[in-house]
Amino acid sequence: MGSEKWIVCCFVLLMAVGGAMAAAPKKPIDVPFGRNFVPTWALDHIKYNDGGNEIQLVLDKYTGTGFQSKGSYLFGHFSMHIKMVPGDSAGTVTAFYLSSQNSEHDEIDFEFLGNRTGQPYILQTNVFTGGKGDREQRIYLWFDPTKEYHTYSVLWNMYQIALISSIFSLGKNRFFVDDIPIRVFKNCKDFGVRFPFNQPMKLYSSLWNADDWATRGGLEKTDWSKAPFVASYKGFHIDGCEASVNANYCATQGKRWWDQKAYQDLDHYQYRRLRWVRTKYTIYNYCTDRVRYPTIPPECRRDRDLF
Ligand SMILES: *[C@@H]1O[C@H](CO)[C@@H](O)[C@H](O)[C@H]1NC(C)=O
Repeated sequence: MGSEKWIVCCFVLLMAVGGAMAAAPKKPIDVPFGRNFVPTWALDHIKYNDGGNEIQLVLDKYTGTGFQSKGSYLFGHFSMHIKMVPGDSAGTVTAFYLSSQNSEHDEIDFEFLGNRTGQPYILQTNVFTGGKGDREQRIYLWFDPTKEYHTYSVLWNMYQIALISSIFSLGKNRFFVDDIPIRVFKNCKDFGVRFPFNQPMKLYSSLWNADDWATRGGLEKTDWSKAPFVASYKGFHIDGCEASVNANYCATQGKRWWDQKAYQDLDHYQYRRLRWVRTKYTIYNYCTDRVRYPTIPPECRRDRDLF
């Protein structure tokens, strides 16, 4: 058996075992950028390496850049391997998000706020439903996101939206998958909270200058002498129910792997890890901001022990 086959074989075995105890989303399948995505703006600020299997977004004092998925999706599993801008990245923001097009739009955001050399990045997440956002959570990361590729993914079904950070690494003769849920937005329809279910979303990513707010609330400005700033991407995985932009349901709803019981909620192990992120790495959580929200937002009441 070639070593590659051996890895695949081990991986399948591992997934079979792992699948029984912890329902981690299926392993993303890496494809070239052009399979699922197109540039959105500043096309000359995107660099293609390795036949488009890796791309780099470049920010300089003239412009940032971004890209988007060709298709729109209702539910699924989406992920990207990203290596953030290294060195002095203060003032820059690298974003990966899903968004629908309408005025009462739904959106799921990962925003990575850069920092001065050696100072920690912040990961800000937000969820908009029916046009309503203001659900920011901010955390420090337990790893340096500029050193190597990490995988950021969204699992979206009728029951929950889970934002997950993972690292895939090859040990001696085994493949390690380390999935850490960093945020879960449950369907709290019964509490009167809108949940994204009837508007397809596209995926977007961009790198831009946000030194009016990003680093230490805007105190640290982008040092243009350090430009160009470069974020690298691989993976480009999409496994979703593709729908036309104006569709309001997915043709195969309820028949895809992400709808199965195992993916409808986190298991104990995943909750433990989420709680670990909450207690050790949280900088800000709208759920606990009693100045801004004197009454606890309904969706925060569901898993109270997490907040
Ligand atoms: C940048 O570093 C400073 C100092 O350690 C820290 O207060 C801040 O939270 C860090 N991150 C951002 C994005 O401002």
